[in-house]
Amino acid sequence: MVTSSNKKLTILVINLFIIIHRIQYSSAILDPADFLALQSIRKSLEDLPGSDYLSSWDFTSDPCNFAGVFCSGERVVTLNLGDPRAGAPGLSGVLDPAIGKLTNLTEFTVVPGRITGTIPATISELKNLRFFAISRNFLSGEIPATLGELTNLRTLDLSYNQLTGSIPWAVGSLPALTNVVISHNRLSGPLPAFTSQTLTRLDLKHNNLSGSIPPGFIPSSIQHLSLALNRFTGSVEYLLPQLNRLNYLDLSMNRFTGPVPGCVFSFPITTLQLDRNLFSGPVQPFNEVSIQTVDLSHNMLYGEVSPLFSTVQNLYLNNNRFTGSVPNTLVDRLMDGNVQLLYLQHNFLTGVPIKPTEAIPVSSSLCLQYNCMVLPVQTPCPVEAGSQKTRPTTQCMQWKG
Ligand SMILES: *[C@@H]1O[C@H](CO)[C@@H](O)[C@H](O)[C@H]1NC(C)=O
Ligand SMILES: *[C@@H]1O[C@H](CO)[C@@H](O)[C@H](O)[C@H]1NC(C)=O
Repeated sequence: MVTSSNKKLTILVINLFIIIHRIQYSSAILDPADFLALQSIRKSLEDLPGSDYLSSWDFTSDPCNFAGVFCSGERVVTLNLGDPRAGAPGLSGVLDPAIGKLTNLTEFTVVPGRITGTIPATISELKNLRFFAISRNFLSGEIPATLGELTNLRTLDLSYNQLTGSIPWAVGSLPALTNVVISHNRLSGPLPAFTSQTLTRLDLKHNNLSGSIPPGFIPSSIQHLSLALNRFTGSVEYLLPQLNRLNYLDLSMNRFTGPVPGCVFSFPITTLQLDRNLFSGPVQPFNEVSIQTVDLSHNMLYGEVSPLFSTVQNLYLNNNRFTGSVPNTLVDRLMDGNVQLLYLQHNFLTGVPIKPTEAIPVSSSLCLQYNCMVLPVQTPCPVEAGSQKTRPTTQCMQWKG
């Protein structure tokens, strides 16, 4: 009781100082609840060596002048914790639940550092929060399901932490989300349905998420989608055709099955990464593919290689089950130096229209190893291609049925 009333007295005195100061400059006085919340937040954090941030947090002066604190009237509206200079080491400590008292906060960020502990569930009291970014720290525990109450939230960046558990269904249902970056954590379980019709970026790379992704779980507004390095399963045959605004797509290193829909090759993408999955079936682009890099390697794709891939600069079709002869146009473009990389190793291809006397341009990489043909030219291959030049004939016979 004594310490608590002492504390109140101290705050009263401090606020009196601020009042006098504010009267001189005729501005508002910070709300006492915000003042107390900032004090609690301060107490649970420290600058890492080399970081100079909290020294400006001197509670005998106006907190609205602290580094990273921005007020509107008597309320804190933006809180950017940590020394923002590039490469500054950031903060250690934990996020105090008192953060939930800053109820007018619209933006809350923490610079990369060593903040540990969990994301306080009291964040859900910040009903005006629009921007929440605390990436590259050591936060653990689950994403509080109460984040699903932040109906104004647009940007959520929790990437590069140690979060576990699943992505709460309620977070997927937030109506105003535009950017969701939760990559590089340890999340498991299925993808919730993301319903915001303004969602443009969804990055869940490098987690342990699983299950299939029903069509409609990702809105058609999406432009940047990375689900790489998870354990997702099932087909994307009906999902991807709905996402025709994609300009970045990375589904690599999952367990997706079924066909690769032809429409993906018409998306305005520069790098298409569908490698290391269980995709199967023939691959048929609708038009000449104008994507710079297409990686379909390490799948179970079969049929002939489409000549429409001749306009791709870097084409990875290796480790699949492609058959037939490599199209003339693809070889021509390689010889012209327009195709810079063509990896066809570990397939069941039976021919390539290259004469033994023809020279591959020095700037181009071609690998044809381990197919059902005698190589017309010797070209350097990546180490993973192994040393065997051709596939054993028995396998080639078997594949032909
Ligand atoms: C604080 O939030 C309330 C409720 O959203 C709003 O009416 C008020 O204008 C806000 N005050 C400031 C200073 O932003
Ligand atoms: C990934 O999630 C599964 C449950 O879906 C769990 O059994 C497994 O231990 C997790 N792996 C890692 C590395 O966390």
